Amino acid sequence: MKALLCEAFGPIDNLVVKDIPSPVPGPKQLLVEVHAAAVNFPDALMVQGLYQVKPPLPFTPGAEISGIVKSVGAEVKHYKAGDRVIALTSTGGFAEECIVESAKAMPLPPGMDFDTGAALVLTYCTSLHGLKDCGHLKAGETLVVLGAAGGVGISAIEIGKAMGARVIAAASSDDKLELCRKVGADETVNYSTENPMYLRDRINELTGGKGADVVYDPVGGPYTEPAVRALAWRGRLLIIGFAAGEIPKIPLNLALLKERSLIGVYWGDSTKHDPTGHLANLHQLHEWFAAGKIRPVVSERFPLAAAKDAIASIANRQVKGKIVVVPNG
Ligand SMILES: NC(=O)c1ccc[n+]([C@@H]2O[C@H](COP(=O)([O-])OP(=O)(O)OC[C@H]3O[C@@H](n4cnc5c(N)ncnc54)[C@H](OP(=O)(O)O)[C@@H]3O)[C@@H](O)[C@H]2O)c1
Repeated sequence: MKALLCEAFGPIDNLVVKDIPSPVPGPKQLLVEVHAAAVNFPDALMVQGLYQVKPPLPFTPGAEISGIVKSVGAEVKHYKAGDRVIALTSTGGFAEECIVESAKAMPLPPGMDFDTGAALVLTYCTSLHGLKDCGHLKAGETLVVLGAAGGVGISAIEIGKAMGARVIAAASSDDKLELCRKVGADETVNYSTENPMYLRDRINELTGGKGADVVYDPVGGPYTEPAVRALAWRGRLLIIGFAAGEIPKIPLNLALLKERSLIGVYWGDSTKHDPTGHLANLHQLHEWFAAGKIRPVVSERFPLAAAKDAIASIANRQVKGKIVVVPNG
């Protein structure tokens, strides 16, 4: 079978597609024919050796997939060949076949296509966990989403709306902001400007001087501090990631002055600390999907031969919503 391989940590352009032996599932594993594998920002970091997890080399990147079960290990009870599944894999997704731990698979919900299934779990679970469990977002509050047209950003807009918040989307181009409005943002801010405090000023204007109740920040860099300065009394900053490449240093008097909270969000580990809460969140997402309240935006599909271009485009700030690799498409 064909797989994208990272043979040494380094430039994304060094990734290669090669024929490798079909993997054999262990006792609690599934072998899945991959129909779609979503591209996530950590894939780009991982192949460059810049992510907190460094898999043994060579490895195939790709952390979430959807597809059809080809075979199952001896101890697997709930899946059989032919089942349509979604699965989180950490690595291995950008390949024609992928090994999946049965505990990390779930049935593809009825009515959901493979692209949507692959694009749903990581980003939407992160945003629901962040907004509900960490940020305690309430109906009627104002939520500001930075990097709002990206993968986690779009999911935060949709979930914010589903939770009853007023959502202000902030991104770097009018084109990206148009997509944010399409998925439900009430207001938009284009933060690509020379004035570092423009974001603070616009949020204050749009909230009548009160400020935002919650800021969802997957970007970091120069945007975090102005966003913190635009938090209301007891506002909450949700620290999701640093796609801009720079971890900001925030003066802590900004927290003291308005009893603001700066809150870290680490969805992957939270599922180990609170597996029951995670299952409840998945259930909530399925309900919202069935009700048409959330709908991952898959803006582009790449064949396996172009998987490295897909990873490069997320690293280069070009992606809107989610993109998927379709190894068997
Ligand atoms: N904490 C968690 O549990 C968790 C879970 C999932 C993801 N994450 C993190 O969340 C972040 C976003 O992930 P994602 O999959 O949503 O990525 P994404 O789709 O690429 O979105 C990131 C956004 O960041 C903005 N950005 C600003 N400067 C950038 C730069 N120099 N390069 C690339 N993007 C830049 C871009 O929006 P503009 O052009 O509009 O600024 C882009 O749309 C990543 O850091 C990821 O590791 C964290």
